[in-house]
Amino acid sequence: MNAKILGTGSYLPEQLLTNADLEKRIETTDAWIVERTGIRQRHVASAEQFTSDLAVVAGQRAIEAAGVAAQDIELIIVATTTPDRVFPSTACLVQSKLSITNGCPAMDVQAVCSGFIYALSTANAFIRSGQVKTALVIGAETLTRITDYSDRGNCMLWGDGAGAVVLGVTQTEPGIISTHLHADGRYEDMLYVEGGGTCGLGQTPYMRMQGNSVFKMAVNTLDAIVDETLVANGLTKSDIDWLVPHQANKRIIDATAKKLDMPSDRVILTVGEQGNTSAASIPLALDTGIRDGRIQRGELLLMEAFGGGFTWGSALVRY
Ligand code: UT7
Repeated sequence: MNAKILGTGSYLPEQLLTNADLEKRIETTDAWIVERTGIRQRHVASAEQFTSDLAVVAGQRAIEAAGVAAQDIELIIVATTTPDRVFPSTACLVQSKLSITNGCPAMDVQAVCSGFIYALSTANAFIRSGQVKTALVIGAETLTRITDYSDRGNCMLWGDGAGAVVLGVTQTEPGIISTHLHADGRYEDMLYVEGGGTCGLGQTPYMRMQGNSVFKMAVNTLDAIVDETLVANGLTKSDIDWLVPHQANKRIIDATAKKLDMPSDRVILTVGEQGNTSAASIPLALDTGIRDGRIQRGELLLMEAFGGGFTWGSALVRY
């Protein structure tokens, strides 16, 4: 029994924060941001919108694209590092807002920028083991709420948004072929959120990052996970049709594409318009590539991510 992507959906809040807007707030330039990150703008949730609200719209669109009824969803997993509350989980809030009353399990996965890969892998395991037949997997973030706009070292990176997939069961198609998950918890100091947890009570809720060190770790680690994924499946680089990467920084994506000998027109790139949306970025990119007709049924997709923790991972999927 394999898990297959039945449908995808995504949502981006309307409000935009452009590089020109940031030029007014911090000492930076549009040229520097574009050259160092590839980012031109990001979407920002309104004061009334929380992560669950973004997740619900993406989820609804994925359910519609999958052609299933909301009540047929048997598992909800939300990957997020910006939950509405410490608890209940954002997944439980999403279940309620989608009026899913069948009692299906709902939980959050916290693996920062690798969260969607972790969540996809978890849902895949539930389906392969026969525990559920249909799963809703969402990556959703409101990172601008934990961004310190006086810290020019990273505030230009982050954006808000949500992406979702509905997984179903298949006995004839490969679907999700393999997932590869890793973590190394020794690097807390390089990328973390100051307040918000029990050790940061009373502190500001902002992200702190040693950007240049994280950048180097990301490039090297993603290089290795690409090799691991190809070797595990007996594939060569030319077998991959599309790279659907986490959108941290265009230069990191370019390095992974180069490693795969992939021309830029086989890479789904959204970072320029969306910034880094952490756990939401891969399903947002996936939905973009599917809805604009680039990604076709039967093609082989490589998704990969690296983020806080550190965590990293990949998923090889026959769409
Ligand atoms: O999502 C997963 C985790 N996150 C990532 O993977 C992000 C990884 N890191 C990055 O994307 C990059 O490190 C950044 C985009 C954050 C920074 O780019 P960088 O090329 O690593 O720049 P840097 O931190 O080494 O700084 C280079 C220079 C410095 O000036 P000096 O010391 O050379 O005079 C900085 O002060 O650029 C300066 N700088 C800026 N200048 C204009 C740093 N931030 C800015 C800014 N505008 N916003």
